[in-house]
Amino acid sequence: MSNGSQTVRVRKNAQQLGNGQDDLFWYAKSVAELKSRLFNDPTSWRYQAAVHGYNTAKDPDSGIGPFPRSQDQERFWSQCQHQTWYFLPWHRGYLAYFEQIVADAVVKVGGPPGWALPYWNYSGQNPNSRLMPDAFVNPTLADGTTNPLFVDGRNSATNDFQLSDQIVSLQSLSHSPFAGDASGSDPGFGGPQTAFSHFGGTSGLLESVPHNVIHDAIGGLMGDPETAALDPIFWLHHANIDRLWEVWTHRDVSFVDPTDASWLTGVTFELHDSTGAIQSYIASQMLDTTAVLHGYAYDDISDPLRANPALLAFASRIQLMARLPHPPHLVATSKVPINLKVPITAAEVVFDKQTVQAAAQSLQALPTPRPPRVYLNLENVTGTGQPGTYEVYIDTPPPGQEPRPQNGYFVGLMSTFGLEAASRPGGPHAGSGLTTVLEITEQVQHLRSQNRWDESRLHVLFVKEPPPQMAQAMVRARAADVSVGRISIYYH
Ligand code: C2O
Repeated sequence: MSNGSQTVRVRKNAQQLGNGQDDLFWYAKSVAELKSRLFNDPTSWRYQAAVHGYNTAKDPDSGIGPFPRSQDQERFWSQCQHQTWYFLPWHRGYLAYFEQIVADAVVKVGGPPGWALPYWNYSGQNPNSRLMPDAFVNPTLADGTTNPLFVDGRNSATNDFQLSDQIVSLQSLSHSPFAGDASGSDPGFGGPQTAFSHFGGTSGLLESVPHNVIHDAIGGLMGDPETAALDPIFWLHHANIDRLWEVWTHRDVSFVDPTDASWLTGVTFELHDSTGAIQSYIASQMLDTTAVLHGYAYDDISDPLRANPALLAFASRIQLMARLPHPPHLVATSKVPINLKVPITAAEVVFDKQTVQAAAQSLQALPTPRPPRVYLNLENVTGTGQPGTYEVYIDTPPPGQEPRPQNGYFVGLMSTFGLEAASRPGGPHAGSGLTTVLEITEQVQHLRSQNRWDESRLHVLFVKEPPPQMAQAMVRARAADVSVGRISIYYH
């Protein structure tokens, strides 16, 4: 692979690094160097993190200047794209310029040219892949100096974040299309079609899991987009998410990026390069990694789903159902907002008979009638703090009776990453919060086959994902107020 005469950088698995003077070693050296730069230098550690998100109240170095000019803060900070189909291309450009900045710093501190950002593949076959790479864990290095890759306040003081199968699930890779629908049905692999979107709305499938829930699981600076990029593990997490986009586009010829002009060229993003000069990019420049900036590739983009026949069979059943277009029908809603103050909360969703009938008639009228695809929407989730992730179950005992997940079906995870930014009334989404869409088609078909799918009401259960033992006290101290504005069900 080459970009002109230059060989592209190869981003490597961090779990296979950490011995000797490799990319992880030089990462630590240059993070220290970037941390020593002044805040008004666009190539400094703090400025780079502020490009993702910034909030004075949450800045651990708040008050330490010199601050960039306020018009620069407005233009270049808090740019990260979430709950949108720009999530992947925006972060790809952000990472590429960061990689260039670090690579220059590596040379400056005496390292080799061509440094590449390593990735953390927490979903690997080996259970040890779920451990945060060792280099990030100890506050001090062997020689007694401060470890630049360590930050305080993560949910685990060891590298064991107890990432469950559900948190590291790669089910999103089986899903196409890329672009989602923002109106209650398919959120898409890459996110719903929107304009520039800093926070608020519906996350695409890859953004939800594993992206958002890994942020929740690590917590601390990583648990909030307004501080996340201050934790050096952020960049390795995002290199992995970026790699999974590559895996997705290469695993099936029918899995393609959007071709709409609005996605390819519609929004221009700005940031700074390693010389401090202003640069801009659009999504169409982010499609071929070997042509992004200096050019890069991953050491492994093989398809991890080949080992999972059950998931592949599920995916092809669902893809078949997608062939016949049909408008989504809102068939059920909860009647009151649901406060998730306690670790297990039950809620009830009530169906509307007329829309259920209308949806059934419309599906019957298709050239080949098919059952509905069913989407559970957890809408307008607002609140404060870092409540973390909730497991969601359906067909559980009604509210008032003892809520028990064992009696229901697990249908997915609901992250609260970015909750505060999405709840702020002044924000671009006017504080309307986060929405998670979970497809429950298979579970509903199963219930139907047992005559247990009751189209009058459905009980939904939220169970707080248990935080790692070591940090329970700390998580409680940050505990949070969170409520789901509405639960709804769409037949599509
Ligand atoms: Cu823009 Cu992982 O966040």
